[in-house]
Amino acid sequence: MPPQSGRLAYITGANSGIGFHAALELARAGCAVILACRGRSKAEAARSRILAAVPHADAEIADLDLANLDSVRAAAGAFLASGRSLDLLINNAGVMALPQRRATAQGFELQFGTNHLGHFALTGLLLPALLRPGNQPKPAPARIITVSSIAHRGATMDFSDLQWERRYVPWPAYRRSKLANLLFGFELERRLERAQAPAASIVVHPGVSNTNLFAAGPGSGGGLLAKIIPPFIALTSQSAAQGSWPLLYAATSAAVKGGHYYGPHGFREMRGYPVEVRAEQQAYDEVLAAKLWQVSEQLTGVQYPL
Ligand SMILES: NC(=O)c1ccc[n+]([C@@H]2O[C@H](COP(=O)([O-])OP(=O)(O)OC[C@H]3O[C@@H](n4cnc5c(N)ncnc54)[C@H](OP(=O)(O)O)[C@@H]3O)[C@@H](O)[C@H]2O)c1
Repeated sequence: MPPQSGRLAYITGANSGIGFHAALELARAGCAVILACRGRSKAEAARSRILAAVPHADAEIADLDLANLDSVRAAAGAFLASGRSLDLLINNAGVMALPQRRATAQGFELQFGTNHLGHFALTGLLLPALLRPGNQPKPAPARIITVSSIAHRGATMDFSDLQWERRYVPWPAYRRSKLANLLFGFELERRLERAQAPAASIVVHPGVSNTNLFAAGPGSGGGLLAKIIPPFIALTSQSAAQGSWPLLYAATSAAVKGGHYYGPHGFREMRGYPVEVRAEQQAYDEVLAAKLWQVSEQLTGVQYPL
């Protein structure tokens, strides 16, 4: 990774898993990092771990609950009030395949609400800071990185029941939220390009990585699954640190292009070094993306100037 001093990164869900390792490595390379997390004590613990490894790290904490649009507005407002520009926004936080349907503060299904709508709102609200000249001596376009998943494959974007009110099914609900991440990331790039705005939108996925996502999601219902999932994932997946490589590549490589998708190079993109990958065809559907954009603006009340 090239030196990152002078850059500022805002990373959601930076207290755990892939987001934590992305924050740690960016900090190690000299990037100032904002750990945007929903739990103060977990965020403080993550900051302490970063400072233990990188004593000179510039790491601050922002309170952000993506499952509450009031919190998203407050977090974005607090950042904008600081008057700083942002070089990197990493839309990483997520929840996966919760056994029972749960809802955000505004009543959206929790995975769609957190993984997609929360990040849609956050990005739109932080846009003024992303489009200002960067913090580096030689400003480069800001990068907005959204974390999707190989689980986007086979998703359905059913606008007649976007919130899974008729019948909730855990994995399809997760798949939909991850397809939404791709549709959003690609549509954002098209809009930034049309506006000739100085920012790029990039989508990544971490393969299959050993993080808390599995215990917090499918394993959270207790029973046998809760016992089996964590050791199975530990045995079969790559580490959380390796999972952060596509994020770090998208954040720092000169080879990365806006509107493209990056993930691990290995078998079925489950592990390995970051390379450009192809999403499923429907992720490139511009009509679907425009419809999702319009609905997301309506649901969040966040209007993009793009
Ligand atoms: N691990 C994989 O194999 C894999 C594969 C494909 C995609 N991904 C994606 O990678 C991203 C990171 O997940 P991970 O694997 O690193 O899992 P993780 O260790 O569980 O981290 C998820 C992070 O998101 C945070 N988060 C959840 N809900 C939030 C909310 N409402 N507001 C703010 N933060 C919230 C969590 O905070 P708490 O600690 O407070 O819960 C945690 O910091 C997710 O978008 C996930 O979909 C992961």
